[in-house]
Amino acid sequence: MAEQVHSGAPVRDPIADSLVLPIGSRVNEHGRLEVGGCDVVELVEEHGTPAYIYAEDDLRARARAYREAFERRGVDGEVLFASKAFPATAAYKLFAEEGLSVDVASGGELHIALAAGFEPSRIHMHGNNKSDEEILMAARAGIGHLILDSFDEIERAERLLDEPMKVLIRVTPGVKPSTHDFITTGQLDSKFGFGAGDAGGAARAIERVLASDKLELVGLHAHIGSQIFELEPYRLAISALGELAGGWCRVVDVGGGLGVAYTEEDRPPAIDDYVGTKVAGVREVFGDEVRILIEPGRSLVANAGVTAYRVGTVKEIPGVRTYIAVDGGMSDNLRPMLYGSRYEALIADRPAAEPDTTVTVAGMHCESGDVLVRDALMANPAVGDVLVTPATGAYGHAMANNYNGVTRPPVIFCRDGVARQVVRRETFDDLTARDV
Ligand code: LLP
Repeated sequence: MAEQVHSGAPVRDPIADSLVLPIGSRVNEHGRLEVGGCDVVELVEEHGTPAYIYAEDDLRARARAYREAFERRGVDGEVLFASKAFPATAAYKLFAEEGLSVDVASGGELHIALAAGFEPSRIHMHGNNKSDEEILMAARAGIGHLILDSFDEIERAERLLDEPMKVLIRVTPGVKPSTHDFITTGQLDSKFGFGAGDAGGAARAIERVLASDKLELVGLHAHIGSQIFELEPYRLAISALGELAGGWCRVVDVGGGLGVAYTEEDRPPAIDDYVGTKVAGVREVFGDEVRILIEPGRSLVANAGVTAYRVGTVKEIPGVRTYIAVDGGMSDNLRPMLYGSRYEALIADRPAAEPDTTVTVAGMHCESGDVLVRDALMANPAVGDVLVTPATGAYGHAMANNYNGVTRPPVIFCRDGVARQVVRRETFDDLTARDV
């Protein structure tokens, strides 16, 4: 550090410069973690733990980064919030305010998008097995595009629709980026879409839909996977789409996928570079006239959110490991269990303290695998501390569940030191509310 000071290089502040915490996070005058201007320890005294805490400015900044990346390149198109990443009404509202469109993957997500006030033409619907009700709901609402996923769906939509509907065809372009197998979607062996090659049927699906008087084919879609750090696979996917395109192709939807930093070592590409790669790829293959749709989920919301827990027990097994147990776990963050995902952990009461103890952060569920962070280096965690895991803003609230009768946490938005609860904590009565 002394060397850095002498050389005039700025000293890195591990909290303010963190890649995983929300933009604007800092250590406040009480020495505690502040997110969106709110003291996290005070927040949880009021709202309890676990709690999902978001910095609203961070969500807005990332939405603007996407829009600006489009504007800078003069793109005619739409940035769609892939709402599966954070399906809270307040998030839909916020992104509608920021001028984004939205991607929904079910009737439920469509319902929330409409309730949040999205203009129907800015809603686009996915799903590999949309029901009759979902197709009808989308048609009646007057959504922008239905993204067709299978031959059965083509039949179903034709049978159900009274009026013609604009559709895109989802193509699996035969590209496999390096990410967890469960979240790669662009390979031929996939439940999604139509394969680009002869075996996959995309060319047949295009022919079939072009002949339909109910389905108006306007473009192609590809989403090759999620939490991707490379950019080259997108170019390959776009080239594969180009092989299928004809004069009818006025819209190209290039999906989501941009990876985020879950740990301080992660170095994902910048939003601008990611958008730049996709836009350049589409223009090279399809020309400048085509409309471009992009569907970021994780990269809009992951780093805007943290989860705050209370430490309940510290169990040292001499010579083996020290477990600290928090009051949540796989019910509020399924990602470590599902994908072996890694997270950081810090103590909100003293985030600047030197981390000197290696511990394993366990949840409170009845499974040994319910571990949130293995071998985390932390500042001597003790019972009663508020423990924070950063980067839980995407697919956390979204995949939360009631395992072990646990009530799902509230969602709190913080901005300029003002906190508003946008989703309340579930109650025990909620757990029995559906009983008949
Ligand atoms: N578009 C489509 C058609 C998608 O299926 C997805 C995500 C996205 C866009 C948004 O992708 P993103 O920008 O978030 O990478 N539960 C997993 C992630 C599943 C992603 C599913 N599809 C996780 O927690 O990592």
